[in-house]
Amino acid sequence: TAPETLVTVEDYRRAARRRLPAMVWSYVDGGAEGLETLRDNREAFSRWALRARMLAGNGTPSLATTVAGVPLSMPVLFAPTGFLGLSQWQGDLHAARAAAAAGTRYVVSTASSWSLEEIAQASPEGHFFQLYPREGDIAAKLMRRAWNAGYRTMMVTVDVPVVGNREAERHTGMGIPPVMTPRRMLNIARYPGWAINALRHQRIGGRNLVNGAGIAAAVEAAEIQNRQMVQATLNWNDFQWMREQWKGKLYIKGILDPEDAVRAVRIGADGVVVSNHGGRQLDFALSSLEALPGVVAAVGNRAEVLLDSGVRRGTDVLKALALGARAVMVGRPYVYGVTVGGERGARGVLDIFRTEMERSLSLMGCPSVEALDRSWVVPRQAGTQ
Ligand code: FNR
Repeated sequence: TAPETLVTVEDYRRAARRRLPAMVWSYVDGGAEGLETLRDNREAFSRWALRARMLAGNGTPSLATTVAGVPLSMPVLFAPTGFLGLSQWQGDLHAARAAAAAGTRYVVSTASSWSLEEIAQASPEGHFFQLYPREGDIAAKLMRRAWNAGYRTMMVTVDVPVVGNREAERHTGMGIPPVMTPRRMLNIARYPGWAINALRHQRIGGRNLVNGAGIAAAVEAAEIQNRQMVQATLNWNDFQWMREQWKGKLYIKGILDPEDAVRAVRIGADGVVVSNHGGRQLDFALSSLEALPGVVAAVGNRAEVLLDSGVRRGTDVLKALALGARAVMVGRPYVYGVTVGGERGARGVLDIFRTEMERSLSLMGCPSVEALDRSWVVPRQAGTQ
C-alpha cells in the first residue's frame, strides 16, 4: 500500500518533515541535549552482522509470534506516542486501524489525542494502553476505564520522572501552550495543510485536552505543563499497588538496567520494554540494543523482553530478536507514516518492516523469527569505528 516513491522508513521521515512546521517536527523527531543516545540507538545496530546460510530450503519465512499472549502477524508493535493529533488530527485512530489491519497492535499513550473509548471503537481488536506510574484516583480511574473499554495489556512507562531536556523544542517554542513569535507564526504559515489539520484537531480530537473527554485531560493539563507525568517520589514499593490493581498483563517500559529488570519481575510484571524513550530522556543513556543482552540475561524466561528506540529497518528487528527480544516497538516511524498518509501511511511503514524482514530472513536461510537466537548475529568489525 506504500506509495511507490516511499521505499524506506527514511523516505517517510523526509516526507513527514516536509509537512510539519518546525515546532511540531522538533517534538516528533527531536531528542535530548546533544542527541548522543539518539545517535547511539542507530549505531548500535550497525555493530552486528547477520549470519547467512545458503540453500536452507525453508520457503517463505514466518514472522508470526505472540506478545502478552496476543497472536501477532509480525514482531513489530506501535509504541505509545503522545499528541499524535498534532501530526495528523486522526492519528490515533489511523495508527490503531493500521496496526490491527496488519495483524499487530497499537499502544495507546496516556497523552493520546483521542480517548481510550474512541480508539477502541474505531478499532476493536484490543490494543494495549500506556500509563505513567502514579498513585491514587487518577490512575485507578484510568485503569478502570481502560479495562471497561476492552484493553487487557497495560504498559507503565517509568523513564519520565521529569521530561528530558529537548533543546530543539525550546528553540522552536514547542510546548503546551506553544510560545509564539512572529517568526514562528511565519513558519507555521508556510504549512497551510498542517494548519487546517491543527484546527480540526483542536475541534475534534483536541477537545480531549480542552474539555476533559480524553485521557490526556485525566492526567491534568496542568501537570503536563509542569512536565511531571510521573510522580517523581514513587519507588518500586509504591508501584506494587498498580500491579495489584491491574488484572491484565503488565509491562514496564523504559528499563535499561538489569537490576531494574529483576525488580520489575519481582513485583510481578509480565514483561519489560528495554527503551531509552527514543533518545528523548537521559542523554548518554545506553542505547537500547546495547542494554538488551544484560536485561535478557537478568530476566531469563520469567518475563517477556521487548525493545524500542532506533528501530528503522527489518534487519534491526532481526538483530534485536537474535539478542533476546521477543518483539520490538517503533515510535517515530509510524508517526511519519500517519503524517504522510494517515492509516495508509502507517500501513505502508509496517509493510516496509514486513517485507524487509521476510526478505532478509530468506537471505539468511532462517526459517522464522522464532528461530532467531544469538547464533544468528556476529560482532562486526567494520562499522564499529
Ligand atoms: C514518545 N514516546 C512515548 N512513550 C510513552 O511511554 N508515552 C508517551 O506518551 C510517549 N510519547 C512520545 C511522543 C513522541 C513524538 C515520540 C517520538 C516518542 C516514546 C516511545 O514510546 C518510544 O519509546 C520511542 O519512540 C521509541 O523510539 P523510536 O522508535 O522513535 O526511535
